[in-house]
Amino acid sequence: MDALNKLKQFDAYPKTLEDFRIKTCGGATVTIISGLIMLILFFSELQYYLTKEVHPELFVDTSRGDKLRINIDVIFPHMPCAYLSIDAMDVAGEQQLDVEHNLFKQRLDKEGQPVTGEAEKHDLGKDEEGVFDPSTLDPDRCESCYGAETEDLKCCNTCDDVRRRTGGVAGLLRPLTPLSSVNKVAGNFHFAPGKSFQQSHVHVHAVEIHDLQSFGLDNINMTHFIKHLSFGKDYPGIINPLDGTNVAAPQASMMYQYFVKIVPTIYVKGDGEVVKTNQFSVTRHEKVANGLIGDQGLPGVFVLYELSPMMVKFTEKQRSFTHFLTGVCAIIGGVFTVAGLIDSLIYHSARAIQKKIELGKAS
Ligand SMILES: *[C@@H]1O[C@H](CO)[C@@H](O)[C@H](O)[C@H]1NC(C)=O
Repeated sequence: MDALNKLKQFDAYPKTLEDFRIKTCGGATVTIISGLIMLILFFSELQYYLTKEVHPELFVDTSRGDKLRINIDVIFPHMPCAYLSIDAMDVAGEQQLDVEHNLFKQRLDKEGQPVTGEAEKHDLGKDEEGVFDPSTLDPDRCESCYGAETEDLKCCNTCDDVRRRTGGVAGLLRPLTPLSSVNKVAGNFHFAPGKSFQQSHVHVHAVEIHDLQSFGLDNINMTHFIKHLSFGKDYPGIINPLDGTNVAAPQASMMYQYFVKIVPTIYVKGDGEVVKTNQFSVTRHEKVANGLIGDQGLPGVFVLYELSPMMVKFTEKQRSFTHFLTGVCAIIGGVFTVAGLIDSLIYHSARAIQKKIELGKAS
């Protein structure tokens, strides 16, 4: 009994007798309002707790020799499939030969719907290259006419076959690259009209007026729509700045250059899954390249990329539960205390006013 009495001395919350307490309407209002505020604050704290914390780190990228994955999906509404060539080159201007890729060309009609059911796999710079030897091909092969097949003739084994068959505008074109993987060094890839080949280490595109006319075109309209461009897998919250870019060429033979800075990025998910990918920033430069004297460049869409030496690592973390508890206690305690202050202020000022009024009546 004695020990219990001693313990009672430590009570920081001495209770007042129930009889000495009075309940007021002002107090009830303050209680209801503060309860609501507590609920709102509690839910916002809970919502914050349930989000993932992403912690960024920056360091020098030492992981060289990897492959760079490029995903591109671009539509050229005024370029026939067979007329456009696609090449990837590294920083020295050399053709990148060890490129693993899945590049598909898909012919589209005027409404942008695919003409053929299946997209055609396109060999990067292969059949347009000077080194190509047709005798290595199987004579019985059957290659696509990019949608221009007829009942009796279903194969187009040479570019000329395609051209003969299409006999006019070959329709709209959409080269589509779900995946291609080039060496992880600076370089460029481009979409340009005409045959491309290497000539004494210089990359050349032959754009002949004659070819242009055989496709029924009177100029080179490099209008393009970039549906998607990224360099690697997506992670939550990634921004691909070129997605949905629609560029209408105001003049013929425009050269579009996209200067892309790639920032290697590692994203570590909460469950330990590591996504090795890249972010990028881009600036666009455009000019007319119609081959007049003093005019440098080629009509086409060029993406020139460069790798940043710095790497970003994002680590996803669960928010701390003890921090959440601390926050909840602070909300409840804080609102309760402030509400108590407001309540006593209201109560005492009401009483003071009442007293004044009573005094006024008495005198
Ligand atoms: C190219 O096509 C776009 C629309 O698709 C058009 O607005 C533009 O004027 C054309 N440019 C030329 C040079 O014909």
